[in-house]
Amino acid sequence: MRILLLGSGGREHALAWKLSQSELCSELFIAPGNAGTLQYGANVDLKLSDFEAIHAFCLEEKVAMVIVGPEEPLVNGIVDFFQSAVRGRDIAVIGPSKAGAQLEGSKSFAKAFMKRFDIPTAAYGEFDNENYQEGIQYMQQQKLPIVLKADGLAGGKGVLICMNHVEAMAEFELMIQKSKFGEAGRKVVVEEFLSGIELSVFVLTDGKNYVILPEAKDYKRAGVGDTGLNTGGMGAVSPVPFATEEFMQKVEERIIRPTIEGLEKDNIFYQGIIFFGVIKVGEDPFLIEYNCRLGDPEAEVVIPRMKNDLVELYLATVQQKLDEAQIETEELAACTVVAVSGGYPGDFTKGYEIEGLKVGISNTSLVFHAATSKAAGKVLTNGGRVLCVTSYGHSIAEAVLQSKEVLNSIYFPDIYFRSDIGYEFI
Ligand code: AMP
Ligand code: GLY
Repeated sequence: MRILLLGSGGREHALAWKLSQSELCSELFIAPGNAGTLQYGANVDLKLSDFEAIHAFCLEEKVAMVIVGPEEPLVNGIVDFFQSAVRGRDIAVIGPSKAGAQLEGSKSFAKAFMKRFDIPTAAYGEFDNENYQEGIQYMQQQKLPIVLKADGLAGGKGVLICMNHVEAMAEFELMIQKSKFGEAGRKVVVEEFLSGIELSVFVLTDGKNYVILPEAKDYKRAGVGDTGLNTGGMGAVSPVPFATEEFMQKVEERIIRPTIEGLEKDNIFYQGIIFFGVIKVGEDPFLIEYNCRLGDPEAEVVIPRMKNDLVELYLATVQQKLDEAQIETEELAACTVVAVSGGYPGDFTKGYEIEGLKVGISNTSLVFHAATSKAAGKVLTNGGRVLCVTSYGHSIAEAVLQSKEVLNSIYFPDIYFRSDIGYEFI
């Protein structure tokens, strides 16, 4: 089968690596891809917002399956676009419909869904220009810190944790009246702060059945000890030691199952990944958020720990046969450590040559490119998060040590990575 994978990050490199191992994959295209994905297929210059061009490419190249890495095309309705009657519905797109992707695309939609199906989550109110004053009063009554969330997609920047009421009011005003996050933040969800430890839980659903993939924990802050600015993710580990069988059973009963049943009850077409951002409060799981795709950098540990043939799983997804599938998990732990451009998540320079990419790579480590390009035979940095070095180990500590060793042999100017990924478990 000929497959098109959409995206260009570390998640997509990990997916390309895995998809290309399947005997069912005869040809892989990655759009737009990066210097790393070139090892597994052809990079194609397509805009992820141009569904017409993506569809035309699929027809021309006889692509039978499209796998969508990032959220934007899903939230913008790529699944519905491919499934419309005029386009013949014979190209399978793995991912939710536009309505299903609202679980990520609208915090307000997601919270209402959780409430409707009794899924444990933080108490909240939602406000816009219409009920602005009500929002001010609501915040005055809230305990600190106060969590403010832009309703729409804000590139991971739309959540603010405010330590006092004055800051909360000011941010609330900026979001609603000054469009701090553009249209995405003209509606705001104000939420109770939950105190606990977070993990990312991934499910692949065919709309009726589901399988649970290996769980992961990511590290969002730029600095050691979870300090500094929020980033797209500086590293991840899997498994997560506190995700015991007992805890995961609660997650499944209270969060996963009601979600799948809720989607079915609401007649929302969903054949793809659901990412549950879970927080453990005391011994109980609460749902912080949904995403409609794999996490990045979580995918760089989740995919390497899956022994299944990924194409087989995706085929079972479109055939609604996931009840017959079983996830086989690698027992070794995995970690990924992200090497970023100096200055990230603030200003940084692109276009540096990356050296040492081949040195130090063994069969216990994988280097996934997150933002690289290739020019005149050289691999260049092409963004903030540049590379993710994933390693296997008998423990998280061993895996992290291995990734750091590999990273010490890779060089580009101002390279930075967190030295303490997985610190709580070491
Ligand atoms: P999100 O963009 O929804 O993933 O939120 C970003 C991060 O903000 C989450 O990963 C949490 O660390 C934090 N967060 C969001 N909502 C809450 C909440 N209600 N209580 C505590 N932390 C939260
Ligand atoms: N690592 C979190 C995310 O992908 O949203």
